[in-house]
This record gives sequence, structure tokens and C-alpha cells, in this order.
Amino acid sequence: MLDLGSFIVMFDQQTQSDEGGQESSQPNAYFDEVSGLRGKYDSHILPADYKYKVEHSYPDYYNPRFVNIPTVIVLVGLPARGKTYIAKKLGRYLNWIGIKTRVFNVGVYRRNVVGADRKHDFFRADNTEAIKIRRQCAMNALNDVSEWFAHREGFVAIFDATNTTRERRQIVLDFCEERGYKVFFIESVCDDADIVSENIREVKVFSPDYETMKSDEAVEDFKKRIEHYKATYEPLSLEKDEELSFIKNINCGQQFIVNRSHGYVESRVVYYLMNTHVQRRCIYLTRHGESLYNLEGRIGGDPDLSPAGKEFAQRLGEFMNGQNIPDLKVWTSQLKRAYTTAEDINAPVEQWKALNELEAGIFDGMTYGEVQEKYPDEHEQRYEDKFKYRSPRGESYNDLKVRLEPVIMELERQQNILVICHQAVLRVLLAYFLDHPSDQLPYMRVPLHTVYKLTPIAFGCRVEKIAIDVDAVDTHVPHPSRAVKEEDSPLSQSPTT
Ligand code: F6P
Repeated sequence: MLDLGSFIVMFDQQTQSDEGGQESSQPNAYFDEVSGLRGKYDSHILPADYKYKVEHSYPDYYNPRFVNIPTVIVLVGLPARGKTYIAKKLGRYLNWIGIKTRVFNVGVYRRNVVGADRKHDFFRADNTEAIKIRRQCAMNALNDVSEWFAHREGFVAIFDATNTTRERRQIVLDFCEERGYKVFFIESVCDDADIVSENIREVKVFSPDYETMKSDEAVEDFKKRIEHYKATYEPLSLEKDEELSFIKNINCGQQFIVNRSHGYVESRVVYYLMNTHVQRRCIYLTRHGESLYNLEGRIGGDPDLSPAGKEFAQRLGEFMNGQNIPDLKVWTSQLKRAYTTAEDINAPVEQWKALNELEAGIFDGMTYGEVQEKYPDEHEQRYEDKFKYRSPRGESYNDLKVRLEPVIMELERQQNILVICHQAVLRVLLAYFLDHPSDQLPYMRVPLHTVYKLTPIAFGCRVEKIAIDVDAVDTHVPHPSRAVKEEDSPLSQSPTT
């Protein structure tokens, strides 16, 4: 029996032990050999181990600074060209890789000023009164961008509006130049009628502009709005805009034109846009079946599945095979508990070392209680900042994120896929798809024997949480003071322009 819970969310390189987890269930033996050193260092940690652990506690200003100049990414394109989708997805990615980014959606400013019920006439090129209001809304959003940068809250602002005329783009350029910001344009051009009508349909469903309008009426009104914008649309061109930095995405990735893209942010953006697609597909994510270590509350290692874990593997096979998913691929880590969980699924399986569980270093094979008892300082430090904490000879969640970036990129390029991984790995992957803040992600609840089905939609990702009915132990360790919010709940829905 399946317990189906469904909700919608809108949404330093690190070495790893080759075996991904040793058989070291007796960590004391290691220290007994060197007991002469005990007492000299906190928690009996060897000097050599310190070498691997200090970095997480450096203040942030020691970290490499990839972005020194505030950058404004300016979307360009007619309505229904996926600008808001790109803005949100890109914002999510940049935040996930550690570049603090915020999307400023001019449609939100407009709705705050004139309400959400303006018909297409409001967008006519000859509606001078409305043009003034729309320009003021854009300026208000830009002023908020500058305030946000001034408070050093972030380094990248995504300015999500149509910006379809050179005049409007010049206003943005002048504003940014005066303040010393870099500007990078992303234009979405689409003349594929099917893609456009699909976008119109989705906008009609999700846009707050059409919440109260009947379906057919909304589609007609939106089509007229697009025509008003077409009347004055001046696409970016290599001839006329040769001086500007931009990427033009034509027909959802069929073709790209990149002009004067310099610097870290631009290159990450270009790389990301060229690797993502918008085809319909589903991403399934789950942890391995319950393992023998899970039963004992031990961390890391490379244990076998428990009897319940084996049953889960069988049920997961039945579940996935029953879904009849076209061209399904399965990715697992290189750890036994993950790849044996895939054994009953009728689909090709690939093993990724990058999907191995967070490396627990010298704590590998211990229980959480043993770590607390033998290394109280380490235990305390971990819960002070679980995202940045790196165990001696181990990894932090931050390290794990870096390790998983190529996996995310490859996931973006795939079609239907199931990833069988581990507690910490699943948290990091879900944080990317659900736009979960880094400091909270190490406390996300991701139970065993639960499949997360993610379906990318217009403005985010629909998430279905499917509990496969095989009992398993709870491996979640809450923050000792519960000061950190724990959740696996949806984020709020944001609107479109
Ligand atoms: O307990 C299962 C497990 O996968 C361990 O192998 C791993 O160290 C741990 O979860 C990661 O979760 P947390 O960061 O909450 O300790």
C-alpha cells in the first residue's frame, strides 16, 4: 500500500575515501595505537587530522570570492517565453552554488500598484498613462535592487521583466552603470507555436493576473497582451547591441547566441542555461533501503541491507516497474546499500561515486552516541553549524554540495530518472530542487523507504512524497535545542510577470 502525500513547491573540492566508507566499526583501535598523543589535543584528535578540519571554521572572508562586483541579470522577451521560469530556476541554482541571488519580478510591483485585474489594454504601446506606471514600477524594482546590494545582502539580482525595448534596456543600463553594477542580459526568443501555447496555458493556470478570469477569456486576453508587446519589440541583436553582454536562448535551447560573456557569474549562467532543458520528465529520488548500520544507528560504512531494506528494494522495483516510465535510468552511489536497492528495477543502472554518502571521516562506523561521548567538542561544533562543519578527515555538507554539482548538471540534462542515494546526499539534492536554504538543509527530514517524485512545472517543481509501506528505523537526528527549523514542507508560490 502506498501513502501518497503530494504538494507543490514553487518554487572547495573535497577528496573522498575510495571505498566510500570503511569497515571501521572499532575506531578506538586506531587511537589505542597512538595513545601517547591523547590529552595533547582536544577530543583525542591527531595532529594530522586537524589538517583536514580547520577550514570550516574560517570566517567567511577567507573563502574565495567569486563575485566582487554586483551583477544584474536582466531578462528580455515577450510574455509567455519562459522568462519567469528561467529567472526562478537560475536564482535557485546560483543560490545553491553559494552566490546569493534574488529575483525582482516587476509584475509583482505592478500588481501592488494597480492590482491584478488589468486587462490587455493596460499593456498597449499607446496607453501613455499605463506606460508611465509600468516605467515607475520598473524603477521601484531597480531601487530595491540597489538597496539590496547596498545592504550587502547578495551579489546577483535577477531583474525579471519583459524589457522588450531598447529604451527600457537603456534605462536599466544607465541605472546600473551609475552604481557600478555589471549587467548581463538573457533573452528568451521563441517562435515555436507549440511551446508558446503551452506557456500560455501554464501562465493562465498559475499567473495571479488571471486568477479571477474564466479560462478561455484569460487565454484570449493574454494573447492580445502578447500582441501589444510585439508591436514595439526590439530583440537583442549582434549588430545593434554588440557592446552588451548577453545570451540569447532561441526556442528553448535549440540555439544559443552568446556575446561578450566575461566573468564568473556570466560563465556559470551560460553553462547552466546551455545544460538545462524544459521537456516534460520526472525525477525520482530515494534513499537506499534500510541498512544494517541504520539498525544500529551507525554512520557511514558500506553495510548490507537489513531484511526490511531488502523488502524495500523489492517493493521499489514493483513500484517503479509499475509506473511504466519511458526510458527510465537509475543512478546509484557506489555503496552496497544503494546499488543493491536498485536490483529489482527493470532499467539500466549507473553507479556514481559522487553520490556516495557524506564522508564521516574518523567517525565512520560509530554511533552518534559514541561520537558525542568520545568527541564532545566535535559533537558540539557540528550542531553549531552543521552545514559548514567538517569532521576530521571527513566532509561538510558544503563540501558535499560542491561534490554534487556535476550530478545536478547531469540531472538537468537527463530525461526520466531515479536516483538512489543517502540521507545527506538526498537533502542536498532536494535543497537544490526545492530552493531550501543551506543552513536548514542538514535538518531536512528525509525518511527511509520514501520516494520523492519531482515534476518540473512552469514556476518550480511539483513534489509528490510516496511512502513505500515497509517499516524502517528513523535515522533523523534533530538539532539538540531544536533551534533550527526542521521541515520538508512546500515553499510559497511566486507569481509571474
Ligand atoms: O544515518 C544514516 C546516514 O546516512 C549516515 O551514514 C550519515 O553519516 C548520516 O546519515 C548523515 O546525516 P546527518 O548529517 O544528519 O548525521
